[in-house]
Amino acid sequence: MTGFDAIIARDQRIEPRDRMPDAYRATMVRQIAQHAHSEIIGMQPEGRWITRAPSLRRKAILLAKVQDEAGHGLYLYAAAETLGADRADLTAKLISGAQKYSSIFNYPSLTFADVGVIGWLVDGAAICNQVPLCRTSYGPYARAMIRICKEESFHQRQGYELLMRMTRGTPEQREMVQEAVDRWWWPSLMMFGPPDAESPNTARSMAWKIKRHTNDELRQRFVDMSVPQADALGVRLPDPELRWNEERGHYDFGEVDWAEFRRVIGGEGPCNAERIAVRRSAHEEGAWVREAAEAHAAKRAGRAA
Ligand code: 3HC
Repeated sequence: MTGFDAIIARDQRIEPRDRMPDAYRATMVRQIAQHAHSEIIGMQPEGRWITRAPSLRRKAILLAKVQDEAGHGLYLYAAAETLGADRADLTAKLISGAQKYSSIFNYPSLTFADVGVIGWLVDGAAICNQVPLCRTSYGPYARAMIRICKEESFHQRQGYELLMRMTRGTPEQREMVQEAVDRWWWPSLMMFGPPDAESPNTARSMAWKIKRHTNDELRQRFVDMSVPQADALGVRLPDPELRWNEERGHYDFGEVDWAEFRRVIGGEGPCNAERIAVRRSAHEEGAWVREAAEAHAAKRAGRAA
């Protein structure tokens, strides 16, 4: 058994200096880069509510959360660079559509209740998906996940706390929360990826211990976690087939609209064009900062030489 296979078999970490199959390197760059893209694009739905937050406290919380997402993105781009990826190249691939970001961020955030529901459901789904990644076989990715997961739990809690207040508020606030849950529930289930039977990457990612659970297993874990939380909030999840299955020890739930999922990841979601346009203009308007940093670094290097 070669070095790489032996390290995987012993459940140890692959480190940047280790020899690894080209396909392992390529799929790690793919997953880490798209995870990073998701964090960066994910700043947009909530970012638009920072200036509209209903109180200074809510504004401060949201500002901290959105800043965290930016940091997660930079952390993950740094992990991708340990595999030889170039950050500028990854950004170009995101903007050109050559690489993906999570489908969930292609939905609009229409009211401030969305901020709470995104925290509760989207960051909750992210936690389900990311905690196992703390044990992923690629060392820098696993280590990045430890800090990211700690911050995600703050993200999920602040969202849930906002919803606890709103669902105990006025009838209009309760209605805003229910309307947001109706819009975000099914897209949150799509975050875990296609069904295992239609996932081209899962089998190999499980064999290389990149993934510790399959898409369907984590989706089920998220549903099982969310139903009691919805009950505590007093909101209804928009799935008439949702019911506890004593025999399985899990909640049965309805079929995800995979045609919608394919449309959204194919670029036809409600906000795809807007999300990329905002990312592109931020990149172009920030060119002067990159040029100034490079000029400064060159000057310092010149002095040091
Ligand atoms: N959105 C967009 N693309 C998706 C997707 C989604 N929800 N689910 C799957 N896909 C894509 C995959 O990237 C793959 O396309 P590719 O081969 O061109 O990359 C294709 O659909 C088939 O899916 P697979 O299940 O075969 O792909 P993976 O094995 O990579 O599994 C994944 C998909 C579960 C998302 C996995 O990549 C993963 O766990 N990634 C790390 C976590 C992550 O990226 N989370 C995204 C959300 S980040 C976030 O929520 C931030 C938080 O702060 C809110």
